[in-house]
Amino acid sequence: MENIKRVTFASKIGVIAAAAGSAVGLGNIWRFPSQAADGGGAIFIFVYIACILFFGIPVMMSEFIIGRSARANTAGAFHKLAPGTPWKWIGRLGVLTGFIIMGFYMVVAGWTLIYFFQSVTGNLHSVTNFSSHFNSILNNPLQQTIWMIVFTLLTAFFIISGVRKGIEQSAKIFMPLLFLLLIILAVRSATLEGAVNGLNFLFKPNLEHVKQTVFLDAMGQAFFSLSIGMGCLITYGSYFNNSVNLTKTAVQVSTLDSLVAILSGIIIFPAAFALTSNPDTIVDELVTGGPGLLFITLPELFNQMPASMAWSSMFFCLLALAALTSTISLMEVVTLYLYEEYKISRKKSTLLVTIGVIILGIISSYSSGFFNFLDMASAKYMLPVGGLFISIFVGWYLNQQLVTAQITNEGRLKFSILFLKFYIFLLRYIAPIAILSIFIYGLAS
Ligand code: TRP
Repeated sequence: MENIKRVTFASKIGVIAAAAGSAVGLGNIWRFPSQAADGGGAIFIFVYIACILFFGIPVMMSEFIIGRSARANTAGAFHKLAPGTPWKWIGRLGVLTGFIIMGFYMVVAGWTLIYFFQSVTGNLHSVTNFSSHFNSILNNPLQQTIWMIVFTLLTAFFIISGVRKGIEQSAKIFMPLLFLLLIILAVRSATLEGAVNGLNFLFKPNLEHVKQTVFLDAMGQAFFSLSIGMGCLITYGSYFNNSVNLTKTAVQVSTLDSLVAILSGIIIFPAAFALTSNPDTIVDELVTGGPGLLFITLPELFNQMPASMAWSSMFFCLLALAALTSTISLMEVVTLYLYEEYKISRKKSTLLVTIGVIILGIISSYSSGFFNFLDMASAKYMLPVGGLFISIFVGWYLNQQLVTAQITNEGRLKFSILFLKFYIFLLRYIAPIAILSIFIYGLAS
């Protein structure tokens, strides 16, 4: 068992595919556009990118460093690197956060399946009002519950069979396909008549629509989208072999992840502006639209295209797969924790996690208040707190020689001293101070 559990990802591409598979998901394609709309478009995006640069990438590297040097689950890693200290609570908080994220994420993942099957059967094609169509799904908690359970079981299946290879392999094929499809859709959407208003909304700062909470919202989105702040990438980092370049991986994964988010914006907003029947209220609609944005605007776009159901089936299938590689990474965190810390077998651990997630998922399906609470609690509070402590842990607590050894792969990779100093500086001062100030400012406003 020890060997199976501690396998490393097979190839460099596999490492990127797995980490990017975790990062790229509903966070980019569903959550990002609705957050950006809510945060006033361009200004949100600007703050979001700053968050990725100043603490997203450093925190991601830190998670890799913790994971690869400890080679253990998230809580176990803190335990190993800082025995007998309260640091293990940060790991435990991470495990709890992963559980909470699954509690609403699986519901949205279920929606992607509903839309996929409605596209395949052609039912979606006859819909004339997508906003009321989406609402009818929201008002049918039983249907949501069923698809949420299907998705959770699907995730559990991959976790149990430990098809790391299968995931690695499929991620290598599906991620590029998804990327290609997003580019095609972005071109289609951005060339619709009237699309330019959507692009302006996305890229031109409009100071009228700034909200005080934009910093906290953008920071939460950055953490959520990059899969950082709860040790998900500690768990994946524990599967990296010693020749993986952690810096390069973090930069590549963050770049891919941000590109997918921006592409989703270029699909959703031009389509929303171009296809709306009431152009005067579209900005308000976007701002108050909430989580349905993707599921309302995109089917409208498809219906404007020839062979609409083929595009729509393909899109929702790839979206479900992108969500699946993310839910697998989340479930792996909690399962590995139970397995390594409590010596519960992998199967039993998966079963326990699955039951827990389904219970949370049912409550989320029946109560949008609970759904929003889990979303907000995890993204805006738990992930930033986790990220803050992770940066402090690597910046201040860990032995700096160990950190340097991890970044340079024991000296085999040549980084300039300046770069290393800059990284440590970001981790020690910039990241914690930025996270903390955004947090306090966000709570106060
Ligand atoms: N990043 C994924 C997305 O954007 C979701 C996700 C997977 C996640 N693992 C995570 C979010 C860990 C926060 C922490 O869809």
